[in-house]
Amino acid sequence: MERALSGITPSGKLTLGNYLGAIKEFVKMQDEFEMYIFVSNLHSLTIEQERNSRKKNTRDLVAFYLASGLDLSKTTIFLQSDVLMHAQLGWIMQCHTYMGELSRMTQFKDKAQKHSDNINVGLFTYPPLMVADILLYDPKYVPVGEDQRQHVELTRDLAQRFNKKYGDTFVVPELHLTKSGAKIMSLANPTKKMSKSDDESEKGCIYLLDDAKTITKKIKSATTDSIGKINYDEVNQPGISNLLTIYAAITQEDIKSVTNKFKDYNYGDFKEEVAKVVVKELSQLQERYHHIIDNNEVEKALELGKEKALKVAYKKLMKVHKKLGLGI
Ligand code: TYM
Repeated sequence: MERALSGITPSGKLTLGNYLGAIKEFVKMQDEFEMYIFVSNLHSLTIEQERNSRKKNTRDLVAFYLASGLDLSKTTIFLQSDVLMHAQLGWIMQCHTYMGELSRMTQFKDKAQKHSDNINVGLFTYPPLMVADILLYDPKYVPVGEDQRQHVELTRDLAQRFNKKYGDTFVVPELHLTKSGAKIMSLANPTKKMSKSDDESEKGCIYLLDDAKTITKKIKSATTDSIGKINYDEVNQPGISNLLTIYAAITQEDIKSVTNKFKDYNYGDFKEEVAKVVVKELSQLQERYHHIIDNNEVEKALELGKEKALKVAYKKLMKVHKKLGLGI
């Protein structure tokens, strides 16, 4: 069975963007692929966060993985920090990455601007760690949202570079985007991505633990336009297009049929329908999330996952050591 791998950074409360762009797709893929899904908590160190809030975000993330339907007989769930080989292969990858390649990373530029008081070296060298996260497990696919495209492209470049220099070592992975939902925009500012680490955009961001009233309020006050017709047009109607995308990603219908379904609706009624499906999906998810937290299922999943991931990662790292002449 081919593998797929992905991770999420516990840098804030999970958003509808994380769910529709990533988690929901992981669940869909697990019947076809052997999945490795982890919490990229080493990546979270690039942004300042209280210890307890990092712990809570980590636990919540695993609980949401499980609540969304990830099944431990098909998917290995683990913490990046439990598998020490990530940091080690990360260093090796840094030594094969050029400054120019990292300087071009748009996410580094964005984050450096947002956190101008803490432009640490980790923020800059984060992509080679992500490369290591992926290459340790030989996945064929990396399911992520659009914002991670550049990082997956770097992974492909480095895998090819390494294979060429030292002989076949890594599978060259492919980017896997979900059909709809790969880029959920802020409700308040639909030309900007919905983001968990963006404090100013609370209004534009639906969190997975928001209650029904809050979700409905946020969707009802989503920014739209004065055209007054439901169309999928990202340029002229980014707000309406974003709501259509959200609806399509939740119901798993295609954008065309969703647009057709609502073509005669006014904006208020359309928003009401979008709110309904989001509230329904998230309230079911929250119910399962609470059950999982109350029954210590997070601990059990991580214990199991750590053991399985360590074995795979150790084997790959030893292969890399051999190729590089680390050891005698
Ligand atoms: P992170 O934690 O920023 O995001 C987690 C996943 O959610 C997707 N995503 C979105 N998708 C659609 N619309 C949005 N508004 C939206 N916001 C976030 C992201 O694309 C991502 O798939 N560097 C990664 C974590 C990581 C990783 C890895 C992923 C570390 N190592 C190896 C894959 C493979 C990150 O910080 O994602």
